[in-house]
Amino acid sequence: MSDSSDLSATCESGAPVSAGVAGMPQVGNIWLDGRMVPAKEAKVSVFDHGLLYGDGCFEGIRVYNSRIFKLRSHLKRMYASAESIHLKPRWSMDEIEDAIRMTVSDNDIENGYVRLVFTRGVGTLGLNPFHCTEHTAFVIAADIALYPEELYRNGLPVVVAKRRRIPIECLNPEIKSLNYLNNILAKVEAIEAGVLEAIMLNARGEVAECTGDNIFLIKDGKISTPDLTAGMLHGITRQFVIEEVAPSIGHTVEERPHTVDEFFEADEVFLTGTAAEVIGVNRIDSTDIGNGRVGPITTELTAKFRSFVREDATEN
Ligand SMILES: Cc1ncc(COP(=O)(O)O)c(C=O)c1O
Repeated sequence: MSDSSDLSATCESGAPVSAGVAGMPQVGNIWLDGRMVPAKEAKVSVFDHGLLYGDGCFEGIRVYNSRIFKLRSHLKRMYASAESIHLKPRWSMDEIEDAIRMTVSDNDIENGYVRLVFTRGVGTLGLNPFHCTEHTAFVIAADIALYPEELYRNGLPVVVAKRRRIPIECLNPEIKSLNYLNNILAKVEAIEAGVLEAIMLNARGEVAECTGDNIFLIKDGKISTPDLTAGMLHGITRQFVIEEVAPSIGHTVEERPHTVDEFFEADEVFLTGTAAEVIGVNRIDSTDIGNGRVGPITTELTAKFRSFVREDATEN
């Protein structure tokens, strides 16, 4: 759909991070295991289990006006993911916070995107993570090119993926692990259908989330979103919308299980994510949502979100 999405590196949601040669973001220096190194020299071993098995975890974080949005919340989620996969970080949360600030300022990022990654580290070709050496940590700070503005005005069309979200009992989607194949294969369904996002159902057939965004609906003036038992990433943008953005315009958000039919029949649908922020959905498969345009409450939420983060981006 978006021309640039084929050529650019992309965030989880699909919004392109500005790309240099052959899809690699133009980045000066990377923080890698305690040192700032030029991007071209920032290398991870082919024996790293992060590469061999997707064994590791990561965060995607936004910088607005030189403030790192919800940095503390992202760090807490990162360390919770690490603990869930039995990865003991060699760096404290404060040290990683300093590393992020250093990388952002070293690359002169006023408005951009930060990627924080812990890989399991170098190991044997067997699965056992405890045979790996010290894990590898790195921080990339890059520019970000957002979804085109007309998608915020006119709405983002999405499809319902056939592929289901991995059940909590198998690999809890609240762990932001380096293994995104479940989401990638649903994303391929979206791209093959000519759109940028796909709604993923859980194994029970309830709506869980999208491939890189959380999802909300509005019916008869009431906002609701799947509750955490659906099996999804506990989005930091989702939480911000529930706790701060929606209340600021006089709305509460109900968290409960949702069928996919409720989304087809909604007056408005919108997605939330670090890269996408708050974006309205105008069509699901071939069904128009509401009158096929971004609705008034979504428009207000998007505007409110933007004024919050640009004027007063909280780092907590
Ligand atoms: C699978 C998935 N769901 C939801 C989200 C939105 O989460 P957040 O608002 O923390 O970016 C993301 C992005 O990180 C994601 O990858």
